[in-house]
Amino acid sequence: MMNRTTLSPAITTPLFLKGLLFARDSRWTSTRNLITSLYQPAHLASLIPTMHHYATSFCHTISTIQRNREDVPFSELSLRLTMSVIGKTAFGIEFGLLNDDSSGCCNDDDGSCFLRHLIYSVTYLKMDLSVSTTLGMIAPLLQKPCREIFKRIPGTADYKLHQINQQLRERIDAIIAKRSIEMTREHKDLLAALLNARDTRLDGNLLTDSHVRTLAVEHLIAGTISVAFTLSMTVYLVSQHPEVEKKLVEEIDRFGPRDLIPTSDDLHFMFPYLDQVIKESMRTYTLAPLVARETSQQVEIGGYVLPKGTWVWLALGVVAKDPELFPEPDVFRPERFDPAGDEEKRRHPYAHIPFGIGPRECIAQKFAIQEVKLALIQLYRHYVFRRSPKMELPPEFQYRLILWFKRDIILRAIKRGSD
Ligand code: HEM
Repeated sequence: MMNRTTLSPAITTPLFLKGLLFARDSRWTSTRNLITSLYQPAHLASLIPTMHHYATSFCHTISTIQRNREDVPFSELSLRLTMSVIGKTAFGIEFGLLNDDSSGCCNDDDGSCFLRHLIYSVTYLKMDLSVSTTLGMIAPLLQKPCREIFKRIPGTADYKLHQINQQLRERIDAIIAKRSIEMTREHKDLLAALLNARDTRLDGNLLTDSHVRTLAVEHLIAGTISVAFTLSMTVYLVSQHPEVEKKLVEEIDRFGPRDLIPTSDDLHFMFPYLDQVIKESMRTYTLAPLVARETSQQVEIGGYVLPKGTWVWLALGVVAKDPELFPEPDVFRPERFDPAGDEEKRRHPYAHIPFGIGPRECIAQKFAIQEVKLALIQLYRHYVFRRSPKMELPPEFQYRLILWFKRDIILRAIKRGSD
């Protein structure tokens, strides 16, 4: 089962269709092989200083915000952090989202606007109720022509999506065009890999301009929202559990002075409790509660024969709350992932799979974990957090292709020690 099922709105949204997420068969294999090289350990290690730099800017932004008000819009700031990191590490660009004035205002051509467009575009990938999507479910052949008509009619969801995708496309094309001119051998990021593949493949068209554009947008989206969600939920959950916070802060303080940048080995070996906290946060709130596959041939699963072409949904969010695997599943208890503990030893190795499973598992999981760890280390070196009374309890979510918040995660940051 290598292919993912294609959600119907994506079928007629070219901006997404040519990416890795919806690619099929040999197109998927060759694209995945191309991008995988960017997630090898040596390359990931080279990104640590950049990730650490933005984590430090994140702390400065919190401190600037606190000069004027108590509440920190944490999930909004997390998005700014993760977009800055992906902008720099994958595209070599500075979005300027963590400057002193991170009030969230949206000028026509600043990074925040770009960010909002990305989020809108992702929102659309849920089964929304635009006219063309609804019609497409009843009569799939009519979806494309219908979208062509409605995208020209102001006020419709198709029109808005078209406008936003158009703007995203122009912005991405400008980034790609600039790099095409400035490209040197020194560039070793996602954009360089994609442009090299476009320009040097002898078989002609492994990657066309539109593939490059789609893969770039997809990476911006996948690399931004997922990590921001994980970071926000982890800090929120720790803020609600003082005993976890105490243990975590002690581990981080033990590591060394605040300006010591951890190496990849340090991240791997020196923060065992941080590992457990992140795993437990990802279990408590599973970012992608469902992952999809389509059978490529007839298979038998659990006594059921599934013909070729059957859609199979893996309910990661349900497995994460199974009391057989995770006793008292609603309790946030990082120690359940302690490798020396009975619960962890007894558990099936595939019980905790927030990054999916098999050949199509998340391509960037090590990148994501490295980014989350560096951000948490830097944050807890300077602050501990409490839920703001302005934030609802418990947080509410909206289900898109992945989970996102209905309202911001709003926290109060309490400064630690002398800064
Ligand atoms: C905590 C953060 C993240 C989580 C929880 C997460 C989760 C997932 C999941 C569940 C899948 C589907 C796996 C499957 O079908 O078995 C996936 C796929 C994918 N993710 Fe992530 N992800 C995260 C971060 C990232 C980042 C940072 C990037 C890019 C920079 C990224 C890029 C992708 C791509 C391109 C795919 C499609 C892979 C393919 O089909 O070959 N993800 N991710």
